Amino acid sequence: MSQEIKLSIISGSHRQQSESVKIARAVEHQLSTLDGVSRDNVGVNLSVDLSVDLIDLANTKLPLWDVTFENIEQQQIELLADQLEDSDGFVFVVPEWHGMVPAAVKNFFLHYSGGQLAHKPALIIAVSAGEGGAYPIVELRSSSYKNSRICYLPEHLIIRRVQSVFNTDSENHPESQSYLERRMTHCLNLLVSYSLALRGVRQELPAETEFSNGM
Ligand SMILES: Cc1cc2nc3c(=O)[nH]c(=O)nc-3n(C[C@H](O)[C@H](O)[C@H](O)COP(=O)(O)O)c2cc1C
Repeated sequence: MSQEIKLSIISGSHRQQSESVKIARAVEHQLSTLDGVSRDNVGVNLSVDLSVDLIDLANTKLPLWDVTFENIEQQQIELLADQLEDSDGFVFVVPEWHGMVPAAVKNFFLHYSGGQLAHKPALIIAVSAGEGGAYPIVELRSSSYKNSRICYLPEHLIIRRVQSVFNTDSENHPESQSYLERRMTHCLNLLVSYSLALRGVRQELPAETEFSNGM
């Protein structure tokens, strides 16, 4: 039995050539090594075919949320909404900027808290050039799920000293690289398992609710 799963990776830095997009590409690569892996879920052999989109908020410039938009902006917003609707799960690669997530990430959630992410699993990967990276995890976990109904995995990754790992054109710190690769694979395997499982949850949800927003 084979199941198709679509994942979207969102790189949350709006800097060109960011370290976050470097990590997002590493995630994309690592997911490609999981592709078609035979998985043994509660005794059932499931072969999973993964397709992966990478959305770099440095290039996909969403307009700041407003009540109305120009036609061209509206089309862009809807195009991405369709892409997110089609996704079974997400990876958010988010840098720490002044102890916060970048404005583009906040703006993303202002645009897409209308069901596109609802009851779908998401892995948070925080990125820091130094010893930071805890704040984006806390911020996303505490403030982005209420109306989006996104389901963050109970595992996350923090990539500290990001310039020393996941480089394709320069040296990597051997121990950190090996450790983070193993943890990333573990987290991505969890994301695939949750993506399969939460599909079943979404099928069982009541068709209508009077509570369009979370409490
Ligand atoms: C405006 C700005 C603020 C930053 N503030 C922090 C911070 O509070 N903590 C931290 O660990 N790194 C901070 N950094 C450094 C980032 O960790 C570093 O740029 C890293 O490469 C991740 O960002 P990027 O994906 O945009 O490259 C900041 C960077 C910028 C551009």
